Amino acid sequence: MAEKKIVVANWKMNPVRGTEARKIFSLTKQHAGKTRGVQTVVCPPFVFLSELAGKVSGHRCVVGAQDAFWESEGAYTGLVSAAQVADTGAAYVILGHSERRAAGETSKDVARKVKAALDRGLVPIVCVGESERDDAGRYLSFVETELKESLAGIARSALKNLVIAYEPIWAIGEYAVRSATPHEFENMLLFIRKILVDAFGKKLAFSVPILYGGSVDDGNAADFLGVPGSGGLLVGRASLSPKIFSAILDTASKIDG
Ligand code: 13P
Repeated sequence: MAEKKIVVANWKMNPVRGTEARKIFSLTKQHAGKTRGVQTVVCPPFVFLSELAGKVSGHRCVVGAQDAFWESEGAYTGLVSAAQVADTGAAYVILGHSERRAAGETSKDVARKVKAALDRGLVPIVCVGESERDDAGRYLSFVETELKESLAGIARSALKNLVIAYEPIWAIGEYAVRSATPHEFENMLLFIRKILVDAFGKKLAFSVPILYGGSVDDGNAADFLGVPGSGGLLVGRASLSPKIFSAILDTASKIDG
C-alpha cells in the first residue's frame, strides 16, 4: 500500500542571512503546499526556527529542529531544549545526526534526547549510519548497536511518532564517495525493520517510516523512493535549492501514486 512519503530538508548551518532563509522557505513552502501525498519537513538552523515556524500554514509543509537537548531549561550555555523547540511550533527534530555524533554525541545522549522530544510532542527523526563498509559486515552490527542504544527505553506507544533515517556517513556531503545504491538502502531498510520487529513486534515496527539520506538530489530521488518500504528522504545540500528540492517533492508525490 502506498504510504505518504516524508521528505526532510536538513539545511544544516545554512544560509548565513535571514533574508535568504525566508526566501528559500517561502519558495519551498509554496511548492510543498501544492504537493499531494508528501509530508515536507524543513529543518533550518535554530536562529531561524521560531520565525519560520510562525509562517507555517496547513499540514503539508512543517518545520523541525536539527537537534534538541533533554533538559527543559537551566544553565546549559549554547544549548536549546526540546521544550523550547516544541514551543516554537516546530513539529519534528533531527536527532543523532552524524555531524552531531562526530562532535561527541553518543547514542546514550541520543536516547535521552529522543525521550525528551517525544515527551514534548515532537517527532524525532533518529539518524543512524556507518562510517565505512567492510566485507566482513561489521558495519551491520555497528548500525544495530547504534539503533538499539539510540532507542533505549522508549515506550512502545511512542513508535507511531518516530522516524528513522539511514544516512551512511560515507555518502553524506560534498566529500561523499558516492550516494548509496538503492539496493544498499533496501538491504539496510530490511535490516533495520527486522531489528524493530524483534524489539517491538511486527505491527508497531511497520508503523515507523525509514528514510534514506546522503547525496540525494533530483537525479536519484526516485530510485530511493522506489525502494519497497521506503519512508522517504533526508536531504542536505539539495534542500537549499528550492528548484531542485521542489523537483524531489514532485517525484515523491508521483511515487505515492
Ligand atoms: P547531503 O544531502 O548534503 O549529502 O547531506 C545529507 C545529510 O546529512 C542530511 O541530513
